[in-house]
Amino acid sequence: MLDALKKSVARAALDYIPKNSIIGIGSGSTIKFFIKELSTISRYIKGAVSSSCISEKWLNTYNIPVIDLNTLDSLDIYIDSADRVNYSMEMIKGGGGALTREKIIASVSKKFLCIVDKSKYIPKFDNFPIPVEVIPMATRSVSREIKKLGGIPQYRKNFITDNGNNIIDIYNLCIKNPVNLEKHINNIPGIVSVGLFCNRKADLLLVSYIDGVKIIS
Ligand code: A5P
Repeated sequence: MLDALKKSVARAALDYIPKNSIIGIGSGSTIKFFIKELSTISRYIKGAVSSSCISEKWLNTYNIPVIDLNTLDSLDIYIDSADRVNYSMEMIKGGGGALTREKIIASVSKKFLCIVDKSKYIPKFDNFPIPVEVIPMATRSVSREIKKLGGIPQYRKNFITDNGNNIIDIYNLCIKNPVNLEKHINNIPGIVSVGLFCNRKADLLLVSYIDGVKIIS
């Protein structure tokens, strides 16, 4: 059922791909469906910048050219899913651990198109844990800082990011002001990035329901 919703929102995203463009591509199971859909129109695009090794592998599988972000100044569009999106189009991302590269690509993209199934679209952030990517030597010091904020840090076991770092998932955080909280957590030494995407949030959101895809801008 959820897979069917992921597939339908992935297909709907094709309508937003500018011809001859280079597209920023996110990570995760929804994006896996999207890359498959994208392969059906790949002759109309120049290629894609990937946010993870696994997305790069899928792009290669479908012969979609993968382009180095360092060769570009900006991207027309970034397409990615999220773990949660609230009614202000702010997101929690990084369930799959690719948050840092996702944030970099989002920051250089003119438009962020977020594609989710209905289960992720909620009025306010719930208790979904907030991931942070952490330099390995700082896991203890970062955990202490997280506790000071009232959060419960949980080290993600047996997981190393594409950048060679660790992930700490933060539970139990009271999120009153997501924009400020993102800035605050980002400033903790040792944190590479935080999975709150609130300062650079989605510009356009597609949400799939059983009876169709809703467009929210
Ligand atoms: C990857 O790090 C995440 O930001 C994903 O974009 C997010 O977790 C959504 O993934 P799914 O499509 O697998 O739910």
